Amino acid sequence: EDPENLMERPPVVTIMGHVDHGKTTLLDAIRHTNVTAGEAGGITQHIGAYQVESNGKKITFLDTPGHEAFTTMRARGSKVTDITILVVAADDGVMPQTVEAINHAKAANVPIIVAVNKIDKPEANPDKIRQELTEYALIPEEWGGETIFVNVSAKSRTNLDELLEMILLVAEVQELKANPNTTAKGTVIEAELDKGKGPVARILVQDGTLRIGDPFVAGVFFGRVRAMVNDKGRRLKEAGPSTPVEITGLHEVPQAGDRLIAFDDERKAREIADKRTITLRESELNSSSRVTLDDLYK
Ligand code: GTP
Ligand code: NA
Ligand code: MG
Repeated sequence: EDPENLMERPPVVTIMGHVDHGKTTLLDAIRHTNVTAGEAGGITQHIGAYQVESNGKKITFLDTPGHEAFTTMRARGSKVTDITILVVAADDGVMPQTVEAINHAKAANVPIIVAVNKIDKPEANPDKIRQELTEYALIPEEWGGETIFVNVSAKSRTNLDELLEMILLVAEVQELKANPNTTAKGTVIEAELDKGKGPVARILVQDGTLRIGDPFVAGVFFGRVRAMVNDKGRRLKEAGPSTPVEITGLHEVPQAGDRLIAFDDERKAREIADKRTITLRESELNSSSRVTLDDLYK
């Protein structure tokens, strides 16, 4: 990639942590929305993707489920992220999915910012959280370590600006760049069959710009972008790096985690989709040389 084509892109920030430690409420507070109110049993069951603006800078957030059943989703979230926000409830402590989140972030080599949440609660003990996390090599800056900790309350909206500031600070050091003037590459965050719209995929565009009419391959499937909406339900004609979008125009439902690659040439896209499908089918018949989708991307 010619460095001259590279431009700054917004950070992709994944919110992780134990169930009910307040991840979705924190994002709701940052976005002035109320997603939590619509969740069955108050449990997040999918990855939500949103974009906010702070001080004229965009930040892309991915909300992940904290329930133990959703390990695969958390692993996937940490693979596409630049920064992990580890949410730990100050009235609780370091719990199994807190540790799991730390491990995902470390495996993906992603920096962690700790948001110690629920500090409005009388029983909150943010220093106890700091102490517990030292066991996982997360030492607060104020104790001579390298990890940024921010005490927040999603409920009473305390220190949210400080958290956003810290995110932008870490992002600045990372010098995140992408080339908006090329065909798009991205990852399928989620996909499903919608009764009215057909296959719908939520995509994180990671490089290039995705446009209406673009032919693409998502996993092993060919598609052509028919319509595109952002996280606010607004129709878009194009989506640049770090933008989460929902697209239609697929004939089949790809899998979460699949890569999306757009092409100028429809024939090329169809050819690659067909070739991948055939290679996977053949390898399924020949168990000694199993090919995965990841092998095909190489
Ligand atoms: P999962 O996605 O299911 O893992 O949960 P979550 O981490 O997204 O937590 P959620 O936002 O659903 O919040 C869980 C509960 O904690 C809800 O009842 C929230 O109202 C409450 N809560 C979240 N943040 C705060 C806070 O800062 N203070 C207080 N007092 N309660 C909070
Ligand atoms: Na919850
Ligand atoms: Mg949630």
